Amino acid sequence: MNSSSQRNPRRILVTSALPYANGPIHLGHVLEGIQTDIWVRFQKANGNECYFFCADDTHGTPVMLAARKEGIAPEQLIERVQKEHHKDLSSFGVWYDNYDSTNSDENRLISEEIYLKLKEKGHIARRSIEQAYCEHDQMFLPDRFIKGTCPNCKSKDQYGDNCEVCGATYSPKDLIDSHCALCGTSPVRKDSEHIFFKLGEFQNFLKHWIENGNHVVEGVQKKLREWLDSEDGLQDWDISRDGPYFGFEIPGEKNKYFYVWLDAPIGYMASSKNFFKREFPNEPGKFDSFWKDGNAEIVHFIGKDILYFHTLFWPAMLHGSGYQTPKNVHVHGFITVNGEKMSKSRGTFINANTYVKYLDPEHLRFYLAGKLSSGMDDLDLSFDDYTARVNSDLVGNLVNLVSRISTSILDQLDRTLGVLSTEDKELLNELLNQPIKSGTGEYAVRDIIKNAYEQKNYARVMREITRLGDTVNRYVNDNAPWKLIKENPEKAREVVTTTLNASRFLAVYLYPVVPKISEQIYKLLNLEGTPQFQDLNLANILEKTKVNPYEMITKRVDEKAISAMLEENKQSVDASKKDEPAKTNESPAKEERLEISIDDLAKVELRVGQIVEAGPVEGADKLVNVKVDLGELGIKNVFAGIKVAYQPEDLKGMKVVVVANLKPRKMKFGISEAMLMASGEGESLSLFIPHRDAKPGDKLK
Ligand code: MSP
Ligand code: ZN
Repeated sequence: MNSSSQRNPRRILVTSALPYANGPIHLGHVLEGIQTDIWVRFQKANGNECYFFCADDTHGTPVMLAARKEGIAPEQLIERVQKEHHKDLSSFGVWYDNYDSTNSDENRLISEEIYLKLKEKGHIARRSIEQAYCEHDQMFLPDRFIKGTCPNCKSKDQYGDNCEVCGATYSPKDLIDSHCALCGTSPVRKDSEHIFFKLGEFQNFLKHWIENGNHVVEGVQKKLREWLDSEDGLQDWDISRDGPYFGFEIPGEKNKYFYVWLDAPIGYMASSKNFFKREFPNEPGKFDSFWKDGNAEIVHFIGKDILYFHTLFWPAMLHGSGYQTPKNVHVHGFITVNGEKMSKSRGTFINANTYVKYLDPEHLRFYLAGKLSSGMDDLDLSFDDYTARVNSDLVGNLVNLVSRISTSILDQLDRTLGVLSTEDKELLNELLNQPIKSGTGEYAVRDIIKNAYEQKNYARVMREITRLGDTVNRYVNDNAPWKLIKENPEKAREVVTTTLNASRFLAVYLYPVVPKISEQIYKLLNLEGTPQFQDLNLANILEKTKVNPYEMITKRVDEKAISAMLEENKQSVDASKKDEPAKTNESPAKEERLEISIDDLAKVELRVGQIVEAGPVEGADKLVNVKVDLGELGIKNVFAGIKVAYQPEDLKGMKVVVVANLKPRKMKFGISEAMLMASGEGESLSLFIPHRDAKPGDKLK
């Protein structure tokens, strides 16, 4: 059992996985942020030297292409997204010591250093591999950018690595009719030399790391054993990508870049380096003291999908280059919503900023804490359950304790606390020292709660706190201060004093989970600073002090807000679906007439375009794939639902009106980067045609 570490604080560096810069923060990321933040707050409130680092994971092909489609530099895109990500996660009370970017100088330097070290030690190999290459886009195509027919079940339009229909996995070269997902042309095979990290050389080291020292829980060990003991053993890991690629160039190579997963975890180190440099300029050894000297703990929080990267490649890389390996890799499961995988069409794929618009972030922290434990089971956010738990256990129990005595009763007592009798202290003592059986021993409830936090068993923490809250509520009910205030005000004062001291202890217990609520209780009680676990002490009792005016701490869950949130999600998905040619059979979302201002209109960039290429789209009867010349804006790829009225061969050379600044959309058949303007239905569909003298790229006024 872990006892107080006041005298000898632990030094702990904690991370959450780095969210990809090519998508928004959703409840899955939020779950991870909250789980990590609770642990970090617990460590800090317990007197340990603890830091929490994260960053955006910025490199790779998807980010490069997303930026290209927006017509901006990748650096611009990742800067914008990083701000959004940090803001979204912060709005759930997730507090980072540093939220960095993997596209930083620190990260480049450490990545190079680690690579060169591994190379010097002979852990790097090179050999030529054959890969799909798109001659039109002039790039090697990652598996996700190749599409074709599944060699197993013959379903059309499947990705290069696995079939979403039958689940088969295969190599892209086995796809039938494979084509580039960006431009639709069929890729060629091309040789290229790649650089590999010889993971197999770390087999024994990894085996030992996994089996000893509690670096991962038993369930994770089991999975890793399967992997390590498989017949093929550990394969070399391909860590290079050919340009064009958004990432760090590999030193000593030409047009070769580190694969994003090489520099991503190094981003943990870089984020900390950046922070230590800024915050501890006089302690140049700070970074090494965490990553090299072995007197600190590195703890990673990740989801189960990225387990291998963090428990095989990463410890091997660190070990091979002379750095400290993680003390602990905590793996969580996936969040489901109302019993199912988050789904866009059901409105349950919930982005962080949508949640915050409707519901209270502290409620989610409270609810998730009640369900999180040390294992990697998936975790369901059921909104009925969420409502019940928050309303009864948080609002009805813990918050009610404070609110029911903090308004009129305290007003009648001049908002001043009294003194406690021995009997009152007995109740407070129970909140700290009640003996609880655990395993073979018996421990004080305070240590049970602290240990459960340490083990990331927050569900246990919440069960204990709720039980203690019940005890105090029973005490309040038995003593009925609302009656006493009329009959015996000084006795009422004593009951109120006991209750608020009890609430203060509960606020400390709760602080890692609901920091805002907890801090508000501190504020009410006129206590300075953040709640600390050392405040859980009978020598620390509040007597004869003033209590501030009561301000609403948190409200019951508004069930209408939940439906409104789910509804908004559905609508925004429906609206985007209307543009998807693959789904044109679906009934369009309910339309409301929307007025826009002249400024809104000015955002739409209409230009003259000239169709330079047009062809059919296999598997889509209604679509034509055209390339439109937009003059200074270049040639854009468009999928247009105009086949009912136009044959591809008639379109070539035609001038059309184009929405030129429409955000590129990924469709089933590739990426559509603009939209052609037309009116009419069926055969009477007609493209808008500009004057014959108009030139490609001309702006419409
Ligand atoms: N960029 C990589 C991580 C690099 S770490 C050196 C990545 N990014 S991610 O954005 O896809 O995921 C970030 C984290 O969120 C991962 O730990 C992932 O497991 C977690 N989650 C993503 N979706 C999730 C759920 N639906 N539920 C819970 N966590 C999930 O992977
Ligand atoms: Zn292509």
